[in-house]
Amino acid sequence: MRSCKMPSGNEMPVFGIGTWRMGESRARRAQELDAIKCALELDYPMIDTAEMYGDGGAEEMVGEALAGVRQRPFIVSKVYPHNATRSGTIAACERSLKRMKLERIDLYLLHWRGGVPLAETYEGFFRLREAGKIADFGVSNFDADDMEEAASLDKGLTGSNQVLYCLSKRGPEYDLLPWMRQRSIPLMAYSPLDQGRLLGNATLKKLACNLGCTPAQLALAWVLAQPGVVTIPKSMTRERVKENLAAVDIKLSADLLAELDRAFPPPKAKQSLQML
Ligand SMILES: NC(=O)c1ccc[n+]([C@@H]2O[C@H](COP(=O)([O-])OP(=O)(O)OC[C@H]3O[C@@H](n4cnc5c(N)ncnc54)[C@H](OP(=O)(O)O)[C@@H]3O)[C@@H](O)[C@H]2O)c1
Repeated sequence: MRSCKMPSGNEMPVFGIGTWRMGESRARRAQELDAIKCALELDYPMIDTAEMYGDGGAEEMVGEALAGVRQRPFIVSKVYPHNATRSGTIAACERSLKRMKLERIDLYLLHWRGGVPLAETYEGFFRLREAGKIADFGVSNFDADDMEEAASLDKGLTGSNQVLYCLSKRGPEYDLLPWMRQRSIPLMAYSPLDQGRLLGNATLKKLACNLGCTPAQLALAWVLAQPGVVTIPKSMTRERVKENLAAVDIKLSADLLAELDRAFPPPKAKQSLQML
């Protein structure tokens, strides 16, 4: 599995499973846990979660799925903006570690910008890093101007920015992604299938059929073809967890990439960052 180097020098894998909407419902719990276990059996190299997901329920399931796993994947979690004061960030991270039964989170993100000054959150991140409770820290849902501000505080250490990016939401290509590439900060593309909405697109379906893959695999292979981009599709079914991983090995020709550009044009002007 390929990886991307973060500014700290640590590597992050280009692919993982997302867990939003997991841990919310008792009725779905067994199926969701099984999907995470399936990802681990298939050697998914990364899991993305957050204290927000299922109010800690997703992190608890990650902890349960990881029990007894020999080589644990790269773990990403996120702090709520309203918890992201200096001491609140530290306390939230400690709760996340406890739920996941881990000693360290590989990449810990501010979920989105809230009212707490960024400098305070970063102080919490620095302390967590010094204490070995996180290896790297970063942000999520930050547009280019927010990244500029983070860069003025971060001692060159912001590990990643997790944003909405997929074939049908290409806005970050105009300014944010080039800005991040210049600084070798990997962009984590969330909702790479546009939460499933992308998959009914007739052109995507036709191109996938010609290539002998599914529309989801083509959409994921396109995200993975973008330099400096990693992604974290979520599924709660075993078949799709397996199907999505196979996208990592799909190579897209220049002709096919050009056809996708015609169907899903890149931005010609600044678009404000969208978030879900
Ligand atoms: N930082 C943030 O603010 C933020 C925001 C959104 C998401 N995220 C992260 O990014 C992850 C991924 O984003 P997402 O969950 O919003 O959306 P997504 O991964 O784009 O799409 C998930 C949806 O697509 C379906 N799906 C998955 N694989 C499929 C396949 N092969 N064929 C057909 N349908 C498929 C899933 O259904 P089934 O589950 O039924 O298979 C689910 O409904 C999240 O889980 C979360 O970890 C972060």
